[in-house]
Amino acid sequence: MVLAVSRLSYTYPRSAVQALHDLNFEIPEGQIIGFLGPNGAGKTTTQKIITGILSGYEGEVRVFGKSLKELGSDYYNRIGVSFEYPNLYNRLTAEENLNFYRRFFDVPTEEPAALLARFNLPIGDNRTVGQYSKGMKMRLTLLRSLLNNPQLWFLDEPTTGQDPEHSVMIRDIIREQRNKGTSIFLTTHNMTLADELCDRIAFIVDGRIATFDTPRNLKIAHAKRVVRVEYREDGSVKARDFSLEDAASKEAFIDLVRKATIETIHTMEPSLENVFIEITGRGLSI
Ligand SMILES: Nc1ncnc2c1ncn2[C@@H]1O[C@H](COP(=O)(O)OP(=O)(O)O)[C@@H](O)[C@H]1O
Ligand SMILES: [Mg+2]
Repeated sequence: MVLAVSRLSYTYPRSAVQALHDLNFEIPEGQIIGFLGPNGAGKTTTQKIITGILSGYEGEVRVFGKSLKELGSDYYNRIGVSFEYPNLYNRLTAEENLNFYRRFFDVPTEEPAALLARFNLPIGDNRTVGQYSKGMKMRLTLLRSLLNNPQLWFLDEPTTGQDPEHSVMIRDIIREQRNKGTSIFLTTHNMTLADELCDRIAFIVDGRIATFDTPRNLKIAHAKRVVRVEYREDGSVKARDFSLEDAASKEAFIDLVRKATIETIHTMEPSLENVFIEITGRGLSI
C-alpha cells in the first residue's frame, strides 16, 4: 500500500466540533482513490493531515510503508500536492514561480516548458501570475505539483474554476499520470470526474466515511432496475416508470407499450450522485 489510513480522527484547535471521525482507507500503488462529499465534509482536512500540514491527529497514517511521523523532509520529494486555492507568487511570472519552487527539491525536476504546454498555459509569458485568470492559476498550481514527478499525487478539487474543455483536459492529465504508475488521492465533489477516474471512492459526510468501494459496485448495489417510458397522450408527452423486478409492473409496462404512442423507452442507470444521496441521505451541491 502506498497509503494506509487507520482510525484517523481530528479536531481543529479551539474547535468544538470534531472534523474527522475514525477514517479508514488505503491507496494501492497506481490507483486513484476519490474522496467525495459535500462542502465541510472533511476532505481538505484529510489531505492536509496526510501531507503533513496539520498535526495533532489521532490514529495512524502510513505512507510508503512508514508512519507519517517517521517521514522526514524527503517525503516532499516523493509527493505532489495541489491545493484547493492557488498559492502562488502573484508578482512573479509563471516560469519564475516554477523555477523558484524547483529549488526546494533534492531530486531532479521537470523542465517547466513541456508541462506548461500540456496544461495549455503560455510559455515565455511576460505577465505576472497576478494577471492570470482563476482557471490559469489553478492549472499552474496543478502543474507545479508535478514538477518533482511525484509517486503520490494529492489533488484538492482539481477542476474548480475550469471551463468544460479544461476540465476534460485535466481529467486526461490525471489519467496519464495514473498510467505512468502514480498513485492519486483525489478530493472532489464532482461526481462525473470521480466516476470516470477513480478505482475506489470513499463517500465522506460530516467527517465520517459512509462507504468505500469501486464506482461500479456502488452503482450495481444500488441499481433500481427501472424502465422509463415516454409516450404521447392527449397532445402532450407523459412519462411513467416501471420496475423490472415485479410481475404486475412488467405487465403494466407491456400493456402501455401495446396501447400508447411511444416516444422513448430507457432503462435508468443509477448515477453516482443518486447512489450518494441514497447512502448518505445528503446531496452534493456546494
Ligand atoms: N482552520 C479551521 N479551523 C476550524 N475548523 C475548520 C478549519 N478548517 C475547516 N474546518 C472545519 O472542518 C470541517 C471540514 O472542513 P474541510 O475539510 O475544509 O471540508 P471539505 O474540504 O470537505 O469541504 C468543516 O466543519 C469546517 O468548518
Ligand atoms: Mg475542501
